[in-house]
Amino acid sequence: MTDPAPRNDRPRDVDGPHHVVDDRPPNGSRGRARQPDRGEPAPLAVLGLGAMGTALARTWLAAGHPTTVWNRTRARAEPLVAEGATLADTAAEAVAATPLIVVCLLDDASVGAALADAELAGRDLVNLTTGSPAQARARAAWAHERGARYLDGGIMAVPPMVGSSPTRGYVFYSGSRALFDDRGRTLAVPLDPRYVGADPGLAALHDVALLSAMTGMFAGISHAFALIRAAGVPARPFAPLLVEWLRAMATSASATAEHLDSGDYTTGVMSNLAMQVAGNATLLRTAAELGVDAELLTPYMAAMQRRLADGHADEGVTGVIDQLLS
Ligand SMILES: NC(=O)c1ccc[n+]([C@@H]2O[C@H](COP(=O)([O-])OP(=O)(O)OC[C@H]3O[C@@H](n4cnc5c(N)ncnc54)[C@H](OP(=O)(O)O)[C@@H]3O)[C@@H](O)[C@H]2O)c1
Repeated sequence: MTDPAPRNDRPRDVDGPHHVVDDRPPNGSRGRARQPDRGEPAPLAVLGLGAMGTALARTWLAAGHPTTVWNRTRARAEPLVAEGATLADTAAEAVAATPLIVVCLLDDASVGAALADAELAGRDLVNLTTGSPAQARARAAWAHERGARYLDGGIMAVPPMVGSSPTRGYVFYSGSRALFDDRGRTLAVPLDPRYVGADPGLAALHDVALLSAMTGMFAGISHAFALIRAAGVPARPFAPLLVEWLRAMATSASATAEHLDSGDYTTGVMSNLAMQVAGNATLLRTAAELGVDAELLTPYMAAMQRRLADGHADEGVTGVIDQLLS
């Protein structure tokens, strides 16, 4: 049996704003006393054996954690059972089996449906299902009312990045700090844990912010390839150029953060808004020449245009953020 020991003895802590403290003991402390993870690999239950839940459960199993599994479609659990997992017939049975419950289902509604009949008092519920910040806060309150400690997680990985992969990913966690500290050793087995604050919505916020940035990047990549393809240029030699350029440009996020936190949007600006808006005309002209629809670019360009019209020619593009918030 391999032991993909956590890279760090202690989970990473990313300081974030703490809007809500969710670290009180659960109602009435109905559950039995929880023991922090020490010594032997701790038992846990994994609910949801889709692509991600299966990868997580498999990694805990391989690391020697007694792992109870449940999935709505039972057949998906069979390979893990063959590898040593214990099958629970129902989600409630899985919850009853161990103090630590990891949930990785499709969406928040499926979490509510799966756990409707489960007795959560005294349990530690770690929800790795993607959701919004408000859904995470509501789910935390829901779990707390039922006597469970709650940690929300946003997985920054695809299944091949789970475990000892060279491209190992991580999870943003928020919610109960006590749960995070007590279970950190176990949580660090499949993916590196990064705690972002006591407000249970913060993990989802960080997750969705990164996914949103990725979505915009994919939009740009799609447009770039459309131009290349429309011109009959092969895609393969172009790809490394695109990757190199995006990597270099991505570092501008640090300057944007400086601008936002200082309130001065002009210091260090090398490509001012007036110049960039003028350049947009060339981007649109080229798309038109090649017969490429610029629909993925134009909303962003319109926001830049509005900021310029408000008299911010000397800024870079940081002011677009204010446009989105106004
Ligand atoms: N895959 C990724 O790359 C990735 C990356 C980061 C985060 N995530 C997040 O991880 C979560 C799981 O993703 P996945 O890739 O494992 O998805 P998936 O392969 O589509 O699996 C979905 C899981 O949810 C279960 N499910 C759906 N509706 C249900 C319901 N009403 N009641 C009970 N169970 C229900 C499915 O059960 P059945 O087998 O019975 O259908 C299955 O176990 C999602 O929130 C996803 O956003 C995934």
